[in-house]
Amino acid sequence: MDINRKIAPKRYDFKSVENISSDQLQQHYKLYIGYINKFNEINSESRNASDYPDSNPTYSKMRCLKLGESYALDGVKLHELYFENLTNHSCCASKELMALINRDFINYDNFIEYFKNAALAMRGWVILTIDPLTDSLLVIGCDAHDVGAIWNSYPLLVLDVYEHAYMIDFGIDRKAYINAFIKNINWNVVNKRLQQYLNMKNSQMQMRKYQ
Ligand SMILES: [Fe+2]
Repeated sequence: MDINRKIAPKRYDFKSVENISSDQLQQHYKLYIGYINKFNEINSESRNASDYPDSNPTYSKMRCLKLGESYALDGVKLHELYFENLTNHSCCASKELMALINRDFINYDNFIEYFKNAALAMRGWVILTIDPLTDSLLVIGCDAHDVGAIWNSYPLLVLDVYEHAYMIDFGIDRKAYINAFIKNINWNVVNKRLQQYLNMKNSQMQMRKYQ
């Protein structure tokens, strides 16, 4: 059976972003393409179990493959979420999102300050999610694409804080980069993600009713 397991890069309107240069964003985009290429390469590897006779948790082909696979695919997904909520700025958090922010983070200004502080504390990513176990908002910090993620927590707002995301424009001034990011947020995208989560929860509840 011929299965196409390759993924293709998405395009983003970097010209719409203010105070982060095209050069910075284009260089960043090249890293994203690199993750796609590596994932496609890994994903085309054999899935014949007999091709991995020496699988070993210290060093083996299978171990390298599995570590590279999650690193590359998480890298692709996080960058897509990031570029999507960074481009084509739109105002503002929806009524539904504001209600959750006010409930879980006191108020909007406090949420933004908390999010910025988390972004200063991490080495890779800071992500606002809504978690299905409690239906509450979380700000998750990750030191790498595949380190610190919480399974099944639904990403709403994603910020890349790796140095490569801002060094060309901001040097080591991460605070200035974070402030520029906040001003560029495409809230329509964030609101839509929350709506997708709420729709998913709703249909799960409906399905349970008829089981
Ligand atoms: Fe990045």
